[in-house]
Amino acid sequence: MAGITILGCGMYIPSDLATNEDFAKFVDTSDEWITTRTGIKTRHMANGILTYQMGTEAAKQALREADVAAGEIDLVIGTTVTGDFLTPSMSCMVAGELGMTEVPCMDLNAACAGFVYALDVAQKYLASGDAKRILIVSSEMVTRMVDYTDRSTCVLFGDGAGAMVVAKGEGGFATYISGDPSGAEKIFTKLSMSDSPFRTKTPQWKNPLMQDYPLGLMYMDGNDVYKFAVSAMPRAVEIAAKRLGVTVNQLDLIVPHQANVRIVQTAMKKLGLPMERCYCNIDEYGNTSSACIPVCLNELRQAGRLKPGMKICLVGFGAGLVYGAAAFEIC
Ligand code: UT7
Repeated sequence: MAGITILGCGMYIPSDLATNEDFAKFVDTSDEWITTRTGIKTRHMANGILTYQMGTEAAKQALREADVAAGEIDLVIGTTVTGDFLTPSMSCMVAGELGMTEVPCMDLNAACAGFVYALDVAQKYLASGDAKRILIVSSEMVTRMVDYTDRSTCVLFGDGAGAMVVAKGEGGFATYISGDPSGAEKIFTKLSMSDSPFRTKTPQWKNPLMQDYPLGLMYMDGNDVYKFAVSAMPRAVEIAAKRLGVTVNQLDLIVPHQANVRIVQTAMKKLGLPMERCYCNIDEYGNTSSACIPVCLNELRQAGRLKPGMKICLVGFGAGLVYGAAAFEIC
């Protein structure tokens, strides 16, 4: 498969942060429980800024670093499950803020695996020649749908955005994206419906839990998602590596979705790789859904840790349930 070149990266993390101790003030939890069970110490929270605005800041930085003008972008792919509008898309809002006036924009919902899915789509546009430069923007205000009375989920999530400008490259590239939609009820957030005088029948949801759960709040069966993740992540990495034509051991770096450090540790162990071979920043940011992976990539790039010739593998999973990995050579 034709490869990709990362022309520029960006990120935006809100300055407000909440510590584990802050949560212990209003739910029955402790710094000790959160740290040992998840690896999270702090998470940043949007306060006075919207999802598309965080995405715009990240995108500006990525364009600056790429030295690409907004008008030179052929496609904007947004990933979010916590956008400000159902319509217009977050990508349209970001593109508008960037001053773009003639560009296709689309949002992609693959929950926390959104960035990996977006990269898969982007590579296909680049390989076909339909786009030369693509802006991917992953921005999430997960805290807008967190139930702050549910201690098992509220401590996990934070807000932030990551962005990347990509072009066609010469190195290898392979993806594996998949999903197990039988797990749809494991993580969900329901949207509202208008009061219509024509809608007289009660709609039937997939299961009674979905029927009764409050609108707008995220439900998550953490244990089942955990079990799914620790098998899906290594599976995706193995398949993507094989498609790239390398062994898992030949991957220089794994960049995993930052949901729980114990999930990452278990996945790395199953892959037979040491923890030093993966990048984690969950302690500071918590789970920012689809923004996790591009934020990691931005930090790695700024630290000069993405060197030409390196083979890296991004791997994510999330609501759907979906998962996927993208293995490629840095060029
Ligand atoms: O981005 C993808 C979406 N999310 C995820 O990937 C999350 C995946 N799941 C997880 O990370 C973990 O399952 C959790 C962090 C959600 C939970 O950790 P766990 O080690 O699986 O704990 P558990 O659910 O088995 O709960 C163990 C105990 C329970 O108490 P009892 O029933 O044993 O008395 C929970 O009520 O820990 C309790 N607990 C807490 N205690 C203190 C749950 N949350 C907390 C908390 N503080 N925040």
